[in-house]
Amino acid sequence: MAKRSNKAFYITTPIYYVNDVPHIGHTYTTIIADVLNRIQKLSGNKVFFLTGTDEHGQKVEKAATERGLKPIELADQVVERYKDLWKDLNISYDFFIRTTEPFHEKGVQKIFRKLMEKGDIYKGIYKGWYCVSDENFLAEDVPLEKGGYKICPDCGKRADVVSEDCYFFKLSAYQKPLLDFYAKFPAFVRPPSRMNEVVSFVRQGLKDLSITRTTVKWGIPVPDDPDHTIYVWFDALHNYLTGIGYDWNMELFEKFWPATVHLIGKDILRFHAIFWPAFLMAADFPLPKTVIGHGWWLKDKTKMSKSKGNVLDPYLILDTFGPDPLRYFLLREIPIGLDGNFSHEGFVHRVNSDLANDLGNLVQRTLTMIQNYFNGKIEETEKEEKIDKEIRLEFDNLKKKVLKFFEDYALSKALEEIWAYISSVNKYLAVNEPWKLAKDQSKRKRLGRILYQAAAALRGISYLLFPFMPGSSEKIWGFLGEEEPIQEESFSELKFENLKLGQKIKKPKPLFPRIALKDFLKEEEKKSSPARKEEKMEQVTFDEFKRMDFRVGEVLKAERVEGTDKLLKLEVDIGTEKRTMVAGVADVYSPEELVGKKFVFIVNLKPAVIRGIESQGMLLAAEVEGKATIPFFDKDVQTGAKVR
Ligand code: ME8
Ligand code: MG
Repeated sequence: MAKRSNKAFYITTPIYYVNDVPHIGHTYTTIIADVLNRIQKLSGNKVFFLTGTDEHGQKVEKAATERGLKPIELADQVVERYKDLWKDLNISYDFFIRTTEPFHEKGVQKIFRKLMEKGDIYKGIYKGWYCVSDENFLAEDVPLEKGGYKICPDCGKRADVVSEDCYFFKLSAYQKPLLDFYAKFPAFVRPPSRMNEVVSFVRQGLKDLSITRTTVKWGIPVPDDPDHTIYVWFDALHNYLTGIGYDWNMELFEKFWPATVHLIGKDILRFHAIFWPAFLMAADFPLPKTVIGHGWWLKDKTKMSKSKGNVLDPYLILDTFGPDPLRYFLLREIPIGLDGNFSHEGFVHRVNSDLANDLGNLVQRTLTMIQNYFNGKIEETEKEEKIDKEIRLEFDNLKKKVLKFFEDYALSKALEEIWAYISSVNKYLAVNEPWKLAKDQSKRKRLGRILYQAAAALRGISYLLFPFMPGSSEKIWGFLGEEEPIQEESFSELKFENLKLGQKIKKPKPLFPRIALKDFLKEEEKKSSPARKEEKMEQVTFDEFKRMDFRVGEVLKAERVEGTDKLLKLEVDIGTEKRTMVAGVADVYSPEELVGKKFVFIVNLKPAVIRGIESQGMLLAAEVEGKATIPFFDKDVQTGAKVR
């Protein structure tokens, strides 16, 4: 028996904002974390895998307002989308944290209080610029544009002016301790190029950080000063403590803290490599071992992001292929750290060539031959010849290399090596031509040896692949008749010769059907809703504009939609008929103010059901600081008149 190492390994993903539904970029981080989690479990370590959602702050508040929802209502909806997606992708997390849960809020307040008492938090006034999309205070030296505003250097969006009372965290006091820490643990940030970025940023000096807001209501109240809410990043980062039991399950917490790996995208490196360790130092917590900043998935050379409208819905792939091809593709295509370009061609090519051809064929022909020639059971074989021994030793070697790559988080390299071995085994079959030996009864034991060797190799491959493609590996074990395949110690006990003679092998079913690129594209075209296509469009032609029917409508009746702060149900005369519409303006306008007035409505918008009411059109309004302002006519106009 191999000795159990039983080390505690704690891995986290970022907690995702609930302003919108997940896309391929979010799945990437979570898939890497899941693969690392499964690798560690099979290496005999005790693992805790945390993921969750980041639910407070201005970005979520704003997104909810735009949809006529309360922030918590939006969060509740989006959380379900995340949970469903993780299930469909076979993600085996141990705990899903939501930052709106009371145990988290309490933990954050407790730490806030602790830093107050220590003198690391003080009161002041923040004057500067804020990017809502990144929930980030801009550096002072970001230049003013001609129009008198600033652009967020990270995401390219327009920033807002902020001028408010706040509490500051004394980040400046941690410059030296942080630099000492980086010098002592140069592998704290991976890959090394990212560590260099962080060090040079901190060397330039750190300013104190505003960690509360008064103009944002959707957040954790500051203890004893509830006009202030805690800045969403101060709130969110502490999920890594509260999600593992801080302040509510200290036994669990002691067992797993500090985190072994915080897995993140490079967009949020500064928060994790600078702010986070500084907060932890201030509150006297041990520091995490590693922050891995992975690269971005790009489409058309820019980062996939919802606001750019170039995101890919994971279900376009999941519905056709299931989880494993996506898991494989994302991890095989680029090393963790570099950017990757997502293309349908690239995806289909990998699936067809690596999965359907190389691995799929190996499974299919090896196991089918065992069926056909041995009725599913190889009972006896000839001794190993040189060529047979080579394929066995090559596996031992592969296992060593792959485990080393696992240790270095070099997952794409590990897959490359596994695929090199798959080619060797396919070549071994091609050279030995078992289908010819099968015709000669005197070669039966030789035939048995060759097919045994191929099946043993395949079994070994399936274990090494399990962390990446758990569903497919389980299918292979089913075909191979493996009993109790996965054990904690699977990696240390994994041996080529562990395939038992006489193991009953079943007839395999195809694992990875091939797909033609044009069929995949057609499938996707079918699934993309018209709404999604419109979102991507940056300009419309005049003909497209003409298709929209804007009209003057008169509000006949208006009433509040029960259970909401924002929604009004309107009855509108649009000249030709009366329509029911729902408008998100109730926080600004009372029903009485609107009745009898004429406004602009779009009347050929596809009806949408909002709060159980079918809205047959939409009132147009400007959005000013998240509040609706309805435009009106400066003279009387005829109800039903067209607006162009
Ligand atoms: O930043 N390519 O949440 P978020 C690769 N709530 N990864 C991508 C990606 C892309 N194109 N787009 C997104 C937040 N990601 C904060 C985190 S943690 C205490 C708080 C991944 O919903 C990547 O991991 O904007 C990135 O860091 C994360 O999604 C950002 O998700
Ligand atoms: Mg983001």
